Amino acid sequence: MSAASRRAVLGGALALAACERQAKSAPAVYAPSLKSVAPFPIGTCAQVSHLQQPLWVDLALRHCNRLTPEWEMKMEYVVQPDGGFLFDRPDRLADFARDRGLRLHGHALVWYAQKPAGFLNLDERRVSFARAYDNYITALVGRYRGVAASWDVVNEAIAEDGDGWRDSLWAQKLGPFDHMRRAFDRAREADPGAVLFLNDYNLELMPKKLDSFLRLTEQLLKAGAPLGGLGTQTHVAADTEAGAIGRAVSALGQMGLAVHVSEADVSMTRAQGMFASRAERERAQGRLYAEAAEALLALPPAQRFGLTLWGLRDRDSWLRNENPTDSPAIFDDSGNAKPAAAALAEALSRNR
Ligand code: G3I
Repeated sequence: MSAASRRAVLGGALALAACERQAKSAPAVYAPSLKSVAPFPIGTCAQVSHLQQPLWVDLALRHCNRLTPEWEMKMEYVVQPDGGFLFDRPDRLADFARDRGLRLHGHALVWYAQKPAGFLNLDERRVSFARAYDNYITALVGRYRGVAASWDVVNEAIAEDGDGWRDSLWAQKLGPFDHMRRAFDRAREADPGAVLFLNDYNLELMPKKLDSFLRLTEQLLKAGAPLGGLGTQTHVAADTEAGAIGRAVSALGQMGLAVHVSEADVSMTRAQGMFASRAERERAQGRLYAEAAEALLALPPAQRFGLTLWGLRDRDSWLRNENPTDSPAIFDDSGNAKPAAAALAEALSRNR
């Protein structure tokens, strides 16, 4: 047998083996391009490391038309210990979005969870805390003016138990309400065209937290804050009660603003409920992603800001840090569509 023939036989055998592995690794589930069937933008969170993974890029570009920087546009990356700003990675994400015609959703300007040394160690004899806060928002929003069409301006302002607002460095230094109002005003001045969001989580699971979130929304609007949208993160588990996501999205829609399902994932390992089988658990996961889509479809078109996936593939999910066996995304580690992807696509296709 010639060398060429041996190569052909070997190549064929390898290809067949790969197909068999593929078949063993995941039953083929078909999911059309989500962005092509959705009547509103489909997003994914993104890190610079994802941009160097061709499989992630192909999957993201096939299904999504919006990116949310997962962490590299936050204070933890941008604000340096000396108070300076580092924009190299945010620029990479913004350039990728712009060059590929993707919307960019800026995330997150002010968050209780981020207290960078640049603010904690601020020499207020040199510059006031308020001035440093204003400078940071103005610099970051201004830099991506015309590229980031929207921003999570205040993230997770409601207390964990839903009773009032969280305390934070920002609240202590600039006032519980005023630091939020100030952030919206500076963002508006820096980019008059951006849609500015209030974003939070567990609004599906805690009626008290949802109520506090809506009351804060009303207070900001009454004070004249340029609030244009409400984000419900939608980090839920597979045993989440049917209807919970729909009720939260509908309640947010009553405010007349844009509504963003901003960080959707459905944890399998956080689910406490008993399922008859893995297939049943996967069906429950798909129903919850579908419910998020149906809830947005039930809103007036002008309020359907979009649905953003927080982790495109299981391996991309932040939840893997908590449990390496969790599979919260709609695509598996290899980027194969899971039943949840087909369920989401089917729900999106039922355009009203
Ligand atoms: O990639 C670097 C690695 O090179 C470095 O060695 C390591 C240690 O410094 O850090 C790694 O970056 C981490 C990054 O996740 C990627 O894994 C950051 O430290 C870490 O802070 C970052 O965590 C992000 C977290 O927000 C805090 O910003 C998660 O990815 C992100 O999924 C999570 O997202 C939040 C939303 O913003 C708000 N809603 C809740 C959601 C989940 O917590």
